Amino acid sequence: MQIEIDGGRLVSEIEELSGYSDAEPPAVTRVVFGPSDKMARGWLASLCHEAKLAVREDAVGNLFARWAGMRPELPAVGTGSHIDAIPYAGKFDGTVGVLGGLEAIRALQRSGFRPQRSIELLLFTSEEPTRFGIGCFGSRLLSGTLSDSADEGFKDAEGRTLRELRTAAGYSGSLAEVRLSDSYYDAFVELHIEQGQLLEKEAIPIGVVTQIAAPAGMRISVEGEGGHAGAVLMDDRKDAFCAAAEIVLAVERSARSTGARDTCGTVGKCQIYPGAVNSIPSRVLLEVDVRDTDEARRNDVLREIENACEQIAGKRGVAVKVELVNADPPAQCSGKIISTVIESADELGLSYKKMVSRAYHDSLFMARIAPTGMIFIPCRKGISHRPDEYASPESIGKGTHLLASALAKLASA
Ligand code: GLV
Ligand code: MN
Ligand code: MN
Repeated sequence: MQIEIDGGRLVSEIEELSGYSDAEPPAVTRVVFGPSDKMARGWLASLCHEAKLAVREDAVGNLFARWAGMRPELPAVGTGSHIDAIPYAGKFDGTVGVLGGLEAIRALQRSGFRPQRSIELLLFTSEEPTRFGIGCFGSRLLSGTLSDSADEGFKDAEGRTLRELRTAAGYSGSLAEVRLSDSYYDAFVELHIEQGQLLEKEAIPIGVVTQIAAPAGMRISVEGEGGHAGAVLMDDRKDAFCAAAEIVLAVERSARSTGARDTCGTVGKCQIYPGAVNSIPSRVLLEVDVRDTDEARRNDVLREIENACEQIAGKRGVAVKVELVNADPPAQCSGKIISTVIESADELGLSYKKMVSRAYHDSLFMARIAPTGMIFIPCRKGISHRPDEYASPESIGKGTHLLASALAKLASA
């Protein structure tokens, strides 16, 4: 079987998809259920129809495009990723796995290959936490990690519930039905840019992921006392933002205190009320991201941040409330998928490196319901979640070729 990837078409589709965006190019912003997300989904569905795939969408907008195997009753082989993009992101995060997955299927179709198991492309809804403050929304629901009460429990910054937003986007039905059975997929493989610089530095074209680090999120609100920026004397203040600034530094200190390079702590969102230059901040909301490959060590950091919040609240006379949004365990990739990907890489003459994913992906949750693995390709300087994110056509082509080869093996078993 000769698999030929149409790299030119794939790269131009990645480019075209980046045009569905709320930000000026080269930046991409595509928020789940927003107008650009909706248009991008319609465009992707038409590409899937063109490839003669059977398309269905579930109640939260996860999109499945299936190439029926000769034994359609068998658990399928899945591949895919996400197309939502955080504010001012690049064009490769997630999209390489979706459009690369589609091209892998088309390449297999062109080669004359006939799969035993069905091969299915999966577009996950809202991998990014932009709208609902929690990542991997679609795959959490697919794996039964979120319950159907999520419909009212999750709101965006404007106070619109998940139910309202998904209904307005055309997705109805019970969230409970989104859950896939443990026998739905026999294997799941996600292609993604590395988002780090190990592959590029070592000039290795392929990363074979063995483990995905454990993410956690916290929402911290600080309630102080507002007032006039000139009239309230410094000794009389309970400035919520000054307390929040100490909390931000405590997050950094706590993450660094483990001494492990796998521990990361970030405060990426901060809202200040009332938000006027001549008004003392009365209330601040921080959103905190903590990750580690070691779950227990990650949990120690979360506790340390909580303790720091208590101390800072006491010292500054403000009220600090800490809400744990999520604290997920890490995922181990399946030995079967790792060895299949390695076998394909050897056949294609592609060198590889086994590696940990420090970023999270929908595969973190797919690993709960299916043997799961990931293929990484290098991206320039490891840059991601920025408009200058870049993966070369050559890297994308190699990753897609490897994906196609691995899918063919998995769908034949
Ligand atoms: C995914 O986008 C992540 O933040 O790891
Ligand atoms: Mn991302
Ligand atoms: Mn991603």
